[in-house]
Amino acid sequence: MNTVNTINELREQVRAWKAEGLTIGLCPTMGYLHEGHASLMDASVRSCDRTVASVFVNPIQFGPNEDLATYPRDFESDCRLLEAHGVDLVFHPEPAEMYADDFCTFVDIDVLSKTLCGKTRPIHFRGVCTVITKLLNTVTPDKIFFGQKDAQQLAIIRRMVRDLNFDVEVVGCPIVREADGLAKSSRNTYLNPDERRAARILSRAIRLGQDIADGGERRSGKLLAAMKEKLVSEPMAEVEYVEVVNGENMQPVDTFREGDLVAMAVRIGGTRLIDNFTVGQPPIDFQEGQSNAD
Ligand code: PAJ
Repeated sequence: MNTVNTINELREQVRAWKAEGLTIGLCPTMGYLHEGHASLMDASVRSCDRTVASVFVNPIQFGPNEDLATYPRDFESDCRLLEAHGVDLVFHPEPAEMYADDFCTFVDIDVLSKTLCGKTRPIHFRGVCTVITKLLNTVTPDKIFFGQKDAQQLAIIRRMVRDLNFDVEVVGCPIVREADGLAKSSRNTYLNPDERRAARILSRAIRLGQDIADGGERRSGKLLAAMKEKLVSEPMAEVEYVEVVNGENMQPVDTFREGDLVAMAVRIGGTRLIDNFTVGQPPIDFQEGQSNAD
């Protein structure tokens, strides 16, 4: 596995592979990698001849009061994981390589970026769309891989690729969870043992929502009331939002159907966690009472 730090080196490698007729998969990440990220690499390695992973904590997708400075980083450990999962090339640029001092061109997406996380993170998706555009323009991959964990991000990238005619297939990969149901996330490392235990409430609320939807309920209000009640039963949980939105345009719906998205953001202590399910997908599985914190 090779690591490159510059756009030029990345382009050069991609050009050589394309000259050989090889297909390329791209897995963008911000590092501090875990099995959730690894599932993207696995999907790419399975279906593309070469896999490029990027490890870049993208400064322009963080708001002024967010965790850019403290975002966890461990590039050596990331490389071990990427190598073990068969990644061919790691792109690990410095911020200055991606953003010149006078950088002022952004890719902004309307409508889908205004709901859910976009309400409290107004510049977030502009930063995501801009960095993904830069990566797509550099790597020109056949496929690009994203996790359902960030369902709004995935929907936004799908729309951006359609609206701007990027010649790439966007592949969504299922959420990878801890044994106790908590969705794996680099930010889980912020949780102390008590918070880690309290964080189980997200997946419990997801499962409750799935059971209610599977029971035939179609009114968003009823579903959300039950899920909120579950979430607030955990004293450490502070609900930012729980919403049901159309799976494609991310707009709230009063009655929901298969393919719609039920998404939440919940703070546990100072840590903001997100989770979701798509209506109609099989119920999530977890071991009651199990936690990495135990
Ligand atoms: P990051 O949070 O590092 O996530 C990189 C990719 O891994 C995203 O597509 C995310 O959805 C996926 N992922 C994270 N946890 C997952 C889990 N538990 N199961 C499945 N997939 C999971 O998302 C970003 O970085 C950035 O916004 C990025 C797209 C790289 C742009 O900077």
